[in-house]
Parts: sequence; C-alpha cells; structure tokens
Amino acid sequence: MYNDNPTLKDLNARTIDETAQGQVYSEAVSALAPEPTGKQFYIESYGCQMNFSDSEIVASILGEAGYAPTRDLEGADLILINTCSIREKAEDTVRKRLRVFDKVKRRRPGTMVGVLGCMAERLKAKFLEEEKLVDLVVGPDAYRDLPGLVAGAEEGEKGVNVFLSREETYADINPLRLQSNGVTAFISIMRGCDNMCSFCVVPYTRGRERSRNAYSIVAEATDLFQRGFREVTLLGQNVDSYKWTHPETGERVTFAALLEMVAQVDPKLRIRFSTSHPKDITDEVLYTMRDHENICKYIHLPVQSGNSRILDLMNRTYDREWYRKKVDRIYEIMPDCAISSDIITGFCSETEEEHRDTLSMVDYARYTMSYMFFYSERPGTPAARKLTDDVPLEVKKRRLQEIIDLQTTISDERNRADIGTTFTVLIEGESKRSDADWKGRNTQNKMVIFPRLAGTAPGDYVSVTITDATSATLLGNQVS
Ligand code: 5AD
Ligand code: SF4
Repeated sequence: MYNDNPTLKDLNARTIDETAQGQVYSEAVSALAPEPTGKQFYIESYGCQMNFSDSEIVASILGEAGYAPTRDLEGADLILINTCSIREKAEDTVRKRLRVFDKVKRRRPGTMVGVLGCMAERLKAKFLEEEKLVDLVVGPDAYRDLPGLVAGAEEGEKGVNVFLSREETYADINPLRLQSNGVTAFISIMRGCDNMCSFCVVPYTRGRERSRNAYSIVAEATDLFQRGFREVTLLGQNVDSYKWTHPETGERVTFAALLEMVAQVDPKLRIRFSTSHPKDITDEVLYTMRDHENICKYIHLPVQSGNSRILDLMNRTYDREWYRKKVDRIYEIMPDCAISSDIITGFCSETEEEHRDTLSMVDYARYTMSYMFFYSERPGTPAARKLTDDVPLEVKKRRLQEIIDLQTTISDERNRADIGTTFTVLIEGESKRSDADWKGRNTQNKMVIFPRLAGTAPGDYVSVTITDATSATLLGNQVS
C-alpha cells in the first residue's frame, strides 16, 4: 500500500493512514534477549508494503545488536525513517519529517538520524550534503551493515552504504513484527525489479530482481502459524516472476509451486500475495488459487493505463486487449475472485480519448478498489529521459478525480451486491470506530465490520452475513 496520496482516503484505503507511521511495540523485542545496550531506536516507514516489511528486518537486525524499539520519538537514541521515492510527494513527506527529527536532535544532542530505503538509494551521499543533519544513509540491500554504520557514526564518521546486491534476500533474518495485530503478517519473497516500466524509479532504488529460498519462506510461514498468525501476504514487486533453484538438488520452484507449498502449511493459514504483473501471471497460478481454499480469491493486478499506446510508452509489455483477456481468464477460472488495480493518469502525451480508455477499463475489470495517482516524473527514469511530462497539472487532477469517482461508484455497487451473502471472515481486531465491533476481511480482501460476540477473538474465523455496505466497507452480523 502506498501512503503518500491523500486522494486514497476517499477509497478503501484507510489502512494506509493507520500504518503511515512506523511506531513499534517494545514488548516484541524482549523475546530476542540479546546483550542490551540500553539504547533505543524509533522507526517510521513510508511507501509500499515492502518498505514496512523491510522495517521489520531492520528492527530484527538492530534487536540482535542490542537496540530496543521504542514508540517514543523524543526518547530515542536512533531515529530511522524508511523512505519511498515512487512519487515526488512521497519524498516531500520525508523531508518534512526530517525537519521534525532535527528539532528532536537539537533538544537531545547525540541522537542519531538515519535515512533508509529508496530515497537513501536514489540520493546516496548527496543526502548528507543536502540534509546536513542526517548521520546515516542506508540503501535497501545494506541493512545488515546498520549496526556497524551506527557504531562508526557514533565515532563521528558519516555512515553511508548504498550498495545494491544481486544476492541479498535477508532469507535468514526472522523479522521483528512491528505494529503487529498478531493475526496477519507480510513475508518478503523476492527483492528488486527487472521490469523497467518507464515511469518507475524502483528498478534503480531496489536493484535487480532476486528470489528468496523457498524453504526459508515456508519456514517463516510455519513459524508465524505456530505463533498464532492466521494470514500471510507474500510480497514482491512482481511475485509472478518468482523463481528459485535449489543450489544442491537443482529443484526449481515457480510462484505457483511456492503458493502451493505455503498453502500446505495449514488449511487454517490464509495466503495472500502482492503484486502481480499482468504479463507474468499464469493459468497455473490461477488454478493453484482455485484449488486451495486458503489462498485468498483476490488479485492486485495493476493496469496503469487502459490505452495501448500509453501502455507501450510505459513499457508495460502488454496492451489493452491482453489485459482484458487476463481479466476474463481470472473471472472464468474463479468467478468470485476480486481484482484491484494501480492506475496512473496524465502520463506523458495522454489525450482525452486515451484517458477515456482508462475509464472504460475500470468499468470492464470491475475492480473492487484501485490505488490511483497522477503521473509524477522521477529523475533518471526512462520516461524522464525520453518523454515530456506535458499534461498540465489541472488536467491530471481532473482526470484523476474522474477515475476516482468511477471507481468509487463501482466499489459501492460491488459491495452492495454482497448484501445478503455470508462470508468467512478472519477477525483482525477491534474496529477503529467502536470497540464493540470486530473488523476482519473476507477472502476478496473486503473489510467487514460486525458486532463482536462473546467468546470470539482476533485470529478466529467466523461466518458473517452482510446487511449493509459502503464503497469501502461491508457491515454485517455474525451467524456462526
Ligand atoms: N508517478 C505516479 N505513480 C507512479 N507509480 C509508480 N511510479 C509512478 C510515478 N512516477 C505507481 C504505479 C505503481 C505504484 C506502486 O505506484 O501505479 O504500480
Ligand atoms: Fe515499477 Fe513496474 Fe517494477 Fe512495479 S513492476 S515496481 S511498476 S518497474
């Protein structure tokens, strides 16, 4: 999920705000029991789920080095911000937070501030010149080096490591679950991206694509299940191109095979995954989903644009027809499957007619929800080098609003169509609005709110009949 776009608030994206700040639970780290240094770190995360997942790896690495997590920014010895570069707005948010951290630092000399993630990778040592108060700049593949860099910085060195790796997957690191509800967790299955969509900075900030050892993924899922977790989301920039070869046996594991392996951990463990690329998702994956009840019937399948010429400029390697056929195939194999999307409006040279192709695609695919953005040029990307960002901002904003309005109508219709249906819902916790209600999700990833009954708890599967709906949520009553 992406947390830099206020327009998302209108949609089924409230979790973005809920998770926007990466405070951590201090009780979580006590299980690690390393030599405590008495020092505390505070970490905030921005951007996609991958970044939130990375922050849990960072927390684990720092925990091993004797640092305890804290939610108290003012009391922290080490303040970290895990950053996103996907749009200019995401970077602006980070710069604002750095101003706040600076004030804390002035009140508490000796506090160290570190920038992690995509912005660290994009700006590298330049960060230290631009943002004089940053002590550490650490890219996504260099987190193992963090304790050493912190120690060096304490001695007055500037701590920078932005080397990208072809191998690093952090396979052996058991993430420290931050902000955990104890029910759902992310598992990172691969890193980097080789797709080179022309608008996207990710291949430059996260490096080449590499897949993690399949057995370490299954072991992590098993461990989570044994600790009471009931849902895992397998994460990667492009999960359908997951491929891993066992170094000794030569066994090859595809994404479909990995899904099957994780689904077999326990029928009571739900599996989700994100993100799928329309060019790579195979029938084999769709059949595996269909054949396993515990693999959720939900696919995040970003279209980006509904127009073939724009898709070509974006280097998405599929056209409108191909995407429509994929959607048809998904509904053919799993009629009850939900599909969601990412959409960029106002890409270089996009005409009104081409914009209408995007609107008609939203209508065709009947997305349950979408993340919608207007194009933001990113320095160094192929689009920035070769194309002109020539759609005026007002036009971008108007087109974005049209897409949001249409998506909201469709989300509303799709949710209303669920009234009267009974779903299995995994309880995630108390509803934000009232502690008399539970919140949970059905297999299609729709949020369901319902009055809590005695004897039920987070982690339980319950049957809920839907009585009402908005574009963002289903409301219902537990029936068993
Ligand atoms: N401008 C706007 N949106 C972008 N995205 C990626 N790069 C850009 C950009 N330069 C969106 C895409 C992608 C999601 C992660 O962010 O829709 O799927
Ligand atoms: Fe960017 Fe494309 Fe990779 Fe997604 S798949 S992160 S849009 S390059």
